[in-house]
Parts: sequence; structure tokens; C-alpha cells
Amino acid sequence: MKLTRQQIEEFERDGYLFFPGLFKPEEIKVLTDEVPRLYAQRRPENVREKGSEAVRTNFAAHMYSYPYAKLARHPRMIEPVQQIFGDELYMHQFKINGKMAFDGDVWQWHQDYGTWKNDDLMPEARAMNVAIFLDEVTEFNGPLMFIPGSHKLGVIDAAHDTATTSYPLWTIDHDTIAKLVARGGIVAPKGSAGSMIMFHSCLVHASTSNLSPWNRVSVYLSLCAVSNHIRRFKRPEYIAHRDFTPIKCLPDDCLLKDYGVDLPWKDGTPEAALKPAIAA
Ligand code: SIN
Ligand code: MN
Repeated sequence: MKLTRQQIEEFERDGYLFFPGLFKPEEIKVLTDEVPRLYAQRRPENVREKGSEAVRTNFAAHMYSYPYAKLARHPRMIEPVQQIFGDELYMHQFKINGKMAFDGDVWQWHQDYGTWKNDDLMPEARAMNVAIFLDEVTEFNGPLMFIPGSHKLGVIDAAHDTATTSYPLWTIDHDTIAKLVARGGIVAPKGSAGSMIMFHSCLVHASTSNLSPWNRVSVYLSLCAVSNHIRRFKRPEYIAHRDFTPIKCLPDDCLLKDYGVDLPWKDGTPEAALKPAIAA
């Protein structure tokens, strides 16, 4: 999938692109059908919500789940990012965020590159998030919110919040957010299951809790230019990957047909991937 010049200009201006209904319902079903099995597993890759059994984030499914291993090589997700960076890509992070009905907690205002720089020593903001919706996203189930244009400000000061939710995050203070919103406003792309969002790693984003009776499961690929690989292995490998092998795309029909892919963690995560490789 190739971006047009107009799409590239829009991405440069706003910091994100939205592709409503990019994946067909039968492609999404292959992914959705696998989620209960993944979320039921007792493995460290499943981070649960504070005070609840609901899964907040499942990490690294592409290492142990066949449909997600294929998604991690999907040309509709990989090629536009290769085009923007003009480089090969590796998978820095892979997650399936639950934001489950009633239980899904907030994601505070943040930039992803802030974390990747602070924790992982990623040299530059040459990494991109690509999200696909596995459920319809509406105003009720905690859509992702962006401040358009905020990616142009580079890395904004952030504080490490280890208390608000079950997952530690470098978050931006409310005064700064109020100023940014006064300039850029807030958008929340909404649409059917199968819609895709690509967003800059410096784009400021957040989402509210999900008080609705509808799940909001979304998959996030964080794709990094190979030459921009992380320099510090402070976080476990299932959160910040250390294999910088370039991703080779599968054909466009890969979710609906069989293709051979490796599942190196299918019998469990190796000990070494569960721990920091250096002292934290
Ligand atoms: C994220 O920022 O990584 C996740 C936000 C969300 O799923 O709402
Ligand atoms: Mn984020």
C-alpha cells in the first residue's frame, strides 16, 4: 500500500492518518477470534487493569500467535511506514490493548517517543505507531484522542507516573496539555472494526476509560527504522524488542491464507526475554 503525496502532506501537518474500514470483516474476525485465548493465558505479557482481571495490554502476540505473527508482516501496515522513513523496519513493540467494557482504564496524555527515548535510548523519533481497530470505536468506548500538530514540538517534558494505572507511563502535565489543545484542538478518529490509524511517535495522545458495555480492542504495532534501533535494554524484551532483523512483508491476503511464519515463543517466553539485559 502506497501513500499519495497528499496523504504524506496530511501526515506531516497533523501527525496522523486515518484509514476507515481498511481491513475486511473476515480479516478482522481471524484476529478477534484469537483474543480470548490470548487474554486467558497466565503469562507476563498480559498486563491486567488495576484491581481487575481484565487485560489492559497483551504484549508480543506476534511471537506466539499465528494470526498476529502474520499481521506483524502485513503490507497494509508495514509499507506506508517504510515509505515515510525510507528504511527497513523492525518491531519495537507489539500490543493488543483491551480497553474492555466497563473495566478499560485511562491512558494518560503522553508521547510514545518520550518513553522510547527515556527508557530504551532510541536515538530519534524514527518509529511509528500503526493501530487497527478490532472493535468498532465510538465516542462511548474510550477512543484514542490526538492533539493534531503536536508531533512538531519534539519531545515534551514528562514525568514517570507509576501510580494512576497498572502500567507505568511518562505523562505530560495538564497545563502543557491545555496550551497544546488551545492551539491544535483534539480529534478522536472513530470507525468500524478494521479501520487503521498511523501516528507519529511524538504525537500527543490519550484515551479515557471505557464505561460503555462495548469492548474497544485495538492492536498497535510500533515500527522502528532499523538504523534507529534502541541502544539500552532496560525493559524486558517482550515490551521493547531487541531483534533488529528487518520485517519481510507477506502477501496482502496473508490473514486469509496460510503462510509459514516463526512462532519462537509459542511454548513460553524465554527467561532472558523476561528480564532487563542490563541493570534497570
Ligand atoms: C497507547 O497510547 O499506547 C494506548 C492508548 C490506547 O489504547 O487508548
Ligand atoms: Mn501511546
